[in-house]
Amino acid sequence: MGFPIFFFLLFCLILSCSYAEHVQDFCVADYAAPQGPAGYACKDPAKVSVDDFVHSGLGVPSNTSNVFKFGFTAAFASNFAALNGLGVSVGRSDIEVGGVVPIHSHSGATEVVVIGEGSSIIGGFIASNNKVYQKILNKGDTMVLPQGLYHFFVNQGKTPAVIFVAFSSESPTVQLLDTALFQNDLSTDIIARTTLLDPPQIQKLKRRLGGTN
Ligand SMILES: *[C@@H]1O[C@H](CO)[C@@H](O)[C@H](O)[C@H]1NC(C)=O
Repeated sequence: MGFPIFFFLLFCLILSCSYAEHVQDFCVADYAAPQGPAGYACKDPAKVSVDDFVHSGLGVPSNTSNVFKFGFTAAFASNFAALNGLGVSVGRSDIEVGGVVPIHSHSGATEVVVIGEGSSIIGGFIASNNKVYQKILNKGDTMVLPQGLYHFFVNQGKTPAVIFVAFSSESPTVQLLDTALFQNDLSTDIIARTTLLDPPQIQKLKRRLGGTN
């Protein structure tokens, strides 16, 4: 190993810089290869085509048959191979009239939304000091939801809403407050003690969202 290479690798180790970011234009995900801790392996560049960089599917509405009347279609690194390693992704939210995007957060990913269709959509987020930032959005409006903060949308307009979203992560995580609390087997007693909610209300929401205990 030559001295310069050694120092480059040492530097990478110290700065945890990615080989792909510095040496390759892209690292299209190779879904067939085993996944490492850093994500997908790179597809052989000779086998990469323009189709890896194009994703179709956000033109059709997402399934909104649920209690929130809300659907989401993702174009993340897991189904849009070229996003791998690039730190961005997109998606489409559909909200029926009277529907909502329930309060949720994405750890480590900032989100930018563009209202594609609809009007009178309340978009909001809650800062870590509990201050609420909310505004009525209409078609063409854009809002940014800073990383990690709880946010939500409420479609109080007269038509279904379509919201296109972008994330500063190729594989953003999502955690919904309601499903985290009421769609699993966390006991009613623990939820009641840790949230101060009344047990009957917890039981009601567990039944509605499919939780137990
Ligand atoms: C939409 O989701 C519901 C609930 O998960 C499911 O029953 C239904 O089959 C889905 N509809 C379509 C068109 O996929």
